[in-house]
Order: sequence, then structure tokens, then C-alpha cells
Amino acid sequence: MTDVLKVEKLNRYYGEGDTQTHVLKDVSFNLKKGEFTALVGQSGSGKSTLLNLIGLLEQPSSGELYLTEQKISTLSEQQRTQLRNHALGFVFQFHHLLSAFTAIENVMMPLKIRGIAEKKLRPRAQALLAKVGLENYAERYPTQLSGGQQQRVAIVRALMTQPALVLADEPTGNLDTQTADSIFTLLRQINQEDGTAFLIVTHDTNLAARCDRQLILKDGVLL
Ligand SMILES: Nc1ncnc2c1ncn2[C@@H]1O[C@H](COP(=O)(O)OP(=O)(O)OP(=O)(O)O)[C@@H](O)[C@H]1O
Ligand SMILES: [Mg+2]
Repeated sequence: MTDVLKVEKLNRYYGEGDTQTHVLKDVSFNLKKGEFTALVGQSGSGKSTLLNLIGLLEQPSSGELYLTEQKISTLSEQQRTQLRNHALGFVFQFHHLLSAFTAIENVMMPLKIRGIAEKKLRPRAQALLAKVGLENYAERYPTQLSGGQQQRVAIVRALMTQPALVLADEPTGNLDTQTADSIFTLLRQINQEDGTAFLIVTHDTNLAARCDRQLILKDGVLL
């Protein structure tokens, strides 16, 4: 099977001189197409940093990344942005929905920005919202939704572009156990139906155990 992601000897330093910290140390791993993987490790072990590098939001100090078989270091800034928008979906602990827009408008936003007309996007956005049980909440604003509902909208938004890989940083971190469980089940379902690969940071050992695979970071080293 093809790799959706290849990480080779990735290093990330912050700061300079005496205050320099080595946050990621020669991290290497592959993710196959459709793989559902947990990324675990103590607070400060480098999980979010690794996700930011894979998400092309930050640059590594050294090492190489391949995303959908494209070598990242050879791409221009513009090509990187293009690849990020097309190949990746992001889900964070705090969903960052745009408060001035309704749920369905938030969901359509990534593709509207690409210049696709709203009427072409609506049916898929509506269908995805229905899939997460929010068919009757499409026209609500984020403040009119519960935390778990907002998180489901954010997940749908991340899936709207049909990414090859979804990066999720504690997607259930601020939710109660039951809601966290149903969100996790939803991610798993999407993974199995659409073959979308997931890399999910979680502190929840039960949820991590339900993944295909667990990657463990300890002080910046992948065990
Ligand atoms: N922009 C930055 N400048 C300097 N140091 C940073 C920066 N971002 C992260 N760090 C440091 O890098 C280390 C790893 O941080 P990171 O956020 O990746 O940890 P984490 O595993 O996601 O932790 P948590 O579980 O608490 O979210 C920490 O020691 C942190 O202080
Ligand atoms: Mg973190």
C-alpha cells in the first residue's frame, strides 16, 4: 500500500545558544493510506510540534517529509500551501469555527476560498452534517451549538475537501467521556468508509487503544 506520509529523521529546535531546546529528535515513521493512528506522550513531549511540522504550518530544523509522495523541501511556499489545502484536514481541541458564519457556511468555507460556488458545495456540506447528526443545525451560528456539536461541525469542515490525511490535536480533549467517545467513533467510521488516514493526538489511553497503531513520543524521541 502507498504511504500517505513519510517522516525521515525530523529534528526541531527552538531558540538559540544556551536556551536552545531540542524538541524533536530524529523522528522517523510512515503512515499508510487509510491508517488510523494515535500519537501519544506526556505533556511537552513534542506531539503538537510534530503535528505542526506534518501540517506544513512550521518548518523542521532538519530532516525530510513526504506528503502524498511529494518531497516537501523541494516545494515552493505556494506549492506547500496548495498541498496543505488539498491533502490535509485539521481538527483541533478548540475548533476555531468562525462565529460570524453559520455551521454550514463554516463547513463550506475551505472550498469557497478556493473559488467554488456555494450552490455546488451545499449538497455535500448538508450530507456530511447529516452524517454527524446535525442535519437540523446547519443554519445555526456556533454560539447556538453545544461544544460537542461545534466539534462535529469542525470535523465535517476538515473532511469537506476529502483530504488524504486528517491531523487531529486532542479533538476530544474538551469534551465529556460520552461525547468524546461518539466523536471518536465518528472519526473511525469516516476512516473506514472513505479510507482517510488519521493521525490523532490524545491523552485518552482507551481511545488510543482503539486505533490501528500507536506512536509514542518521549522527550522528542519516537519509541
Ligand atoms: N514556539 C515555541 N518556542 C519555544 N518552545 C516551544 C515552542 N513550541 C513548543 N515549544 C516547546 O517544545 C516542547 C514540546 O511542545 P509541544 O507543544 O509539542 O508538546 P505536546 O506534546 O503537544 O504537549 P501537550 O500534551 O501539553 O500539548 C515543549 O517543551 C514546549 O515548551
Ligand atoms: Mg500539544
